[in-house]
Amino acid sequence: MDSLIFTNDIDEVIENDRAHIWHHLTQHKPFETVDPRIIVGGKGLRVWDARGKEHVDALSGGVWTVNVGYGRERIANAIRDQLIKLNYFAHSAGSIPGSVFARQLIERMPGMSRVYFQNSGSEANEKAFKMVRQIAHKRHGGRKYKILFRERDYHGTTITALSACGQPQRAVQYGPFTPGFVEVPHCLEYRSQWGPCEDYGVRAARAIEDVILREGPDTIGAICLEPMTAGGGVIPPPEGYWETVQDICRKHDILIHIDEVVCGLGRIGSWFGYQQFGVKPDMVTMAKGVASGYAAIACLVTTEDVFQMFKTDPDDPLDYFRDISTFGGCTAGPAAAIENMAIVEDEDLLANTLAMGDYLDERLRALQDCHVVIGDVRGRGLFYGLELVSDRESREPVPESQAQAVVADCMNQGVIIGVTNRSLPGFNNTLCLSPALIANRDDLDQIVDAMDAALGRVFR
Ligand SMILES: Cc1ncc(COP(=O)(O)O)c(C=O)c1O
Repeated sequence: MDSLIFTNDIDEVIENDRAHIWHHLTQHKPFETVDPRIIVGGKGLRVWDARGKEHVDALSGGVWTVNVGYGRERIANAIRDQLIKLNYFAHSAGSIPGSVFARQLIERMPGMSRVYFQNSGSEANEKAFKMVRQIAHKRHGGRKYKILFRERDYHGTTITALSACGQPQRAVQYGPFTPGFVEVPHCLEYRSQWGPCEDYGVRAARAIEDVILREGPDTIGAICLEPMTAGGGVIPPPEGYWETVQDICRKHDILIHIDEVVCGLGRIGSWFGYQQFGVKPDMVTMAKGVASGYAAIACLVTTEDVFQMFKTDPDDPLDYFRDISTFGGCTAGPAAAIENMAIVEDEDLLANTLAMGDYLDERLRALQDCHVVIGDVRGRGLFYGLELVSDRESREPVPESQAQAVVADCMNQGVIIGVTNRSLPGFNNTLCLSPALIANRDDLDQIVDAMDAALGRVFR
């Protein structure tokens, strides 16, 4: 047995990490002089690092994932019990937890019908793109192959997901990209592309139609949008936006694919973000919060209409969705997802998210009154962003280093917050909060108080 797994010698762990681990999204040069951060335990909203320091995690595992909080024995036990019964079989065959979770999920997604399992948000989005391409071939002679994506949105890390990336700093240096992806303008009113507008949401949606008409509606198969942009600046949709987007898509026979990888499973106080905006999607992808990081699982959920397009001609050997995800057959994912969903329900976490979201909103707006550097406060539920500007009039973003200094100061205080990171050149200036859906007033006070102190010190 590898004794290191159970080692208590934390210095050895740190040295092994320094010598062998390639961390995600990280420049490693600083690790020549400082220790890499290692997180060793978690309970509720709190995590402990290798030196025993406690942190309040206002980011749900760094990337808005651990929706139900750390240390859930109920999920761990469900995974263990399932693994002993059956850990894996390729998902060309069904499984008990897969079938149970799919029904429970569809019950919470009126209008949707079918669940396709895989492992990550990127992969779920890739599957959706593949379906759009195959539908183009099956129904439109290959013409309706283009997929629209929005400036500031992110859909994953693979080359094709990066082809649909509205955050240039994520994509740069990784091209050439997959052809057939076309960008539409963002919908952040604070950074309005058309100056002050009476009806910004409708204007931003109409800008999508301008792109559709320019490209040719008969060439566009789908649009992929986050219900609320996450890493591109935490952008709730403006009034009138989604209704207009939906009308435009229906008019031009364009499928609506909503990327719920961040908002799915309760982040903004409904099972899915789109359910707050009156939109009826054709495809929905989800990952992070589906099992809160207790197991790797992602889902692509489609309507019955989309599903039916893949079973029209059983005599044609190429007629069906010829795709597989090996680990989409792991049973730990749906077993964890069943318990995760039960926890959200049993503990009334959607209601808590709405109530605590209101409280967080109130506290952040009060914080804005005290700190002139906070140009904009925006969000919904337990998902907020604070855009920092060096001048409220001109809305000049603060230098990235200052936004990062606020995050570092909070970390020193034992509070983990985030900042938009390697996203848009010059606009990595939005502080981000997405605590677990179990957060209470005391937790939120601790988070906001730490930000208050940090902002005071950094922008003295
Ligand atoms: C909106 C959105 N979609 C997709 C992804 C990709 O998910 P994953 O990292 O699981 O591939 C992310 C990841 O942050 C995301 O924020």
